[in-house]
Amino acid sequence: MTSSDPADLANHDAHAAAQIAALNGPAGHLAHDFNNLLAAISGSATLIELSEPSPEIIRHLRNIQIATRRAAGLMQQMLALSSRTDGLMEKIDVAALLKELAHDSSKLLGTSHLISVFTTEDLPLLTADRAQVRQVVVALLENSRDAMPAGGTIFITAHLLAPSAARLDRQIAISVKDAGTGMRPEVRAQIFQPFFSTKPKGKGTGLAMAIVLRVLQRHRGTIQIQTELGNGSQVTCLFPLDQPAAE
Ligand SMILES: Nc1ncnc2c1ncn2[C@@H]1O[C@H](COP(=O)(O)OP(=O)(O)O)[C@@H](O)[C@H]1O
Ligand SMILES: [Mg+2]
Repeated sequence: MTSSDPADLANHDAHAAAQIAALNGPAGHLAHDFNNLLAAISGSATLIELSEPSPEIIRHLRNIQIATRRAAGLMQQMLALSSRTDGLMEKIDVAALLKELAHDSSKLLGTSHLISVFTTEDLPLLTADRAQVRQVVVALLENSRDAMPAGGTIFITAHLLAPSAARLDRQIAISVKDAGTGMRPEVRAQIFQPFFSTKPKGKGTGLAMAIVLRVLQRHRGTIQIQTELGNGSQVTCLFPLDQPAAE
């Protein structure tokens, strides 16, 4: 596996961060208004369905419901990019959180993929936004699943990085590793861009990795990606233990 050049990564991520910042304010307001409109559309469709229309009209109504659900999911992700959805920082047990995700594997990823979790015993509690850390790991799991369409096992590991000459504070490293398609350098270079997706229309939204980056920035963390086309990917999130998180 080849690792990305860290200097290049920093430049690129600063660019993506600027784009997300531009999305924050107006996108948050828009998302709320949009959700209300979707609720109205979906409610009206349900009312028509209750009036016992013809099978053909029922078919169209179902399509409306599917489309509104998808649009609502998209808006949810846009909202996650808005700082107003930031929750409280609390002390979280990373190992317990990861085990919970593995336990919910079939609900999260479907039945073709397994999650294997390995954590070292020395993990201290991490001060973090629990929902956001969960969201990060789920986003990485979903991408690993999509990179292994035939199914397989996704490996999550978490360990403590002791202070070193290069970095004086302690960090918790959470890695998600797959044996999937891997990424071309052009794809790797764009994954944090909001709305960048290589997935077919109706599947990817291209927002998850933008959200992952935002969450890591809020926690003063960093992200490392090792990937090679045809040879899988490993995404490692580093959360500092001894620094207060950004608000
Ligand atoms: N583990 C992975 N393996 C292969 N490609 C990946 C992986 N993670 C991310 N990607 C690439 O990054 C793109 C952006 O990811 P993401 O922001 O989650 O959006 P989406 O999954 O909706 O496309 C994906 O479309 C895919 O091309
Ligand atoms: Mg994704």
